[in-house]
Amino acid sequence: MPGKSVIAYRYESFGGILHTQKPPMLVWVDRDYMRSLGYADSPLWDEADSLISAPVEVHAMLSRRCSAGCRGCYADAVSDSGQKELDLEGWKKAMDILAEARVFHVALGGGESMELPWLFELAAYARARGVVPNLTTNGFLVDEHNARSCRVFGQINVSIDGLKEQYRQCRGIDGFERADRALTLLKKARCRFGINTVVSRLNFDRLEEIVRYARAKGVNQIELLRFKPSGRGQTVFDEMGLTGEQLRSFYPMTQKLRKKYGLNLRVDCSFMPQIFFHKPNPQRASFFRVAGCHAGQLLMGIMPDGRVSACSFAGAEDWNINEFPSRWASKDSFSLFRGWRDRAQEPCRTCNYLDLCLGGCHVVAETVCGSPDSGDPGCPYIMQNEERRNCCSCV
Ligand SMILES: C[S@@+](CC[C@H](N)C(=O)[O-])C[C@H]1O[C@@H](n2cnc3c(N)ncnc32)[C@H](O)[C@@H]1O
Repeated sequence: MPGKSVIAYRYESFGGILHTQKPPMLVWVDRDYMRSLGYADSPLWDEADSLISAPVEVHAMLSRRCSAGCRGCYADAVSDSGQKELDLEGWKKAMDILAEARVFHVALGGGESMELPWLFELAAYARARGVVPNLTTNGFLVDEHNARSCRVFGQINVSIDGLKEQYRQCRGIDGFERADRALTLLKKARCRFGINTVVSRLNFDRLEEIVRYARAKGVNQIELLRFKPSGRGQTVFDEMGLTGEQLRSFYPMTQKLRKKYGLNLRVDCSFMPQIFFHKPNPQRASFFRVAGCHAGQLLMGIMPDGRVSACSFAGAEDWNINEFPSRWASKDSFSLFRGWRDRAQEPCRTCNYLDLCLGGCHVVAETVCGSPDSGDPGCPYIMQNEERRNCCSCV
């Protein structure tokens, strides 16, 4: 019964979404359940709208500024982009808009947000407006003092793609010691912290080492991200993109690690085809909201100049965050993403998991296959179909 631990909520046409503190999660509930908790009926309940009223989470790329220069960076981050970007006032205005729309979480990323002198002021502002700020950082600038300031974040994830020399191999820079120190300081400061690991061809066989390390550092979660061919990632995709065999064995491997280490091992939405290939129970998956691409629906991105995108990896739409109230529900917004399910081609169209998977990562499909409407080329089911087709045509 989440009633007592609800820290925020919002109405939706189906009922509402509750943000609970213990455990920290978003719970989708129907109208009767809202009533049972004492919430009054909402005018939204008279509507049969299938579109959610706003994203639940927004990924804000505060700036492209970053001195690290990781070789596969999807954001193409550089030490000085020379491009026009929102300043603190611009981002505060964006937070006002997200707060009005009752967005629950904003993930602050970049670039390296800790290089911005106003990061903590912005985070405190978002908090005060009821939007929980989370942070992804390389950790290089975390010291004793600002580790304590990091308590403003709901969650801080430090990016670590490998230990010691493997970190350098994956990211192309030396940074493991600094990231490792950041984890130590965040723990000492009693922050909620975890690590982000980009899973690539280079570190796939050594993920267990990273999980063991993360547990020893006391993280509360590991988020596994699939390596994407975006930004500079495109230039090293042949070397770092996962192989067919790795994509097939990803889910059983993560299940094994979950059981062995008892850690909260999360995976990003682009890994859904690799999960659904192993036919998990669809009712359970639906109940726990294990689902594929919700870009432009549950999720939205904001670029450094204020233009919005369906997710952090997608290109910009033709409108700005200031236009959110009038453009969010427009049928032209995020149409490539929102309309994908209805345009699904074979073999996705007749796949039993279509409604859960929603075709995997459309950004990967667009970069690799030239169209977001293709199914995800990293989907083992699609690869299997492809192999069968090729095999038949050679007979
Ligand atoms: C672009 S970084 C920005 C935040 C910060 N500078 C950092 O290093 O964590 C955000 C997250 O995206 C991940 N990332 C970078 N390039 C990627 C790619 N090509 N595919 C998937 N994830 C990537 C990073 O490892 C990091 O966890």
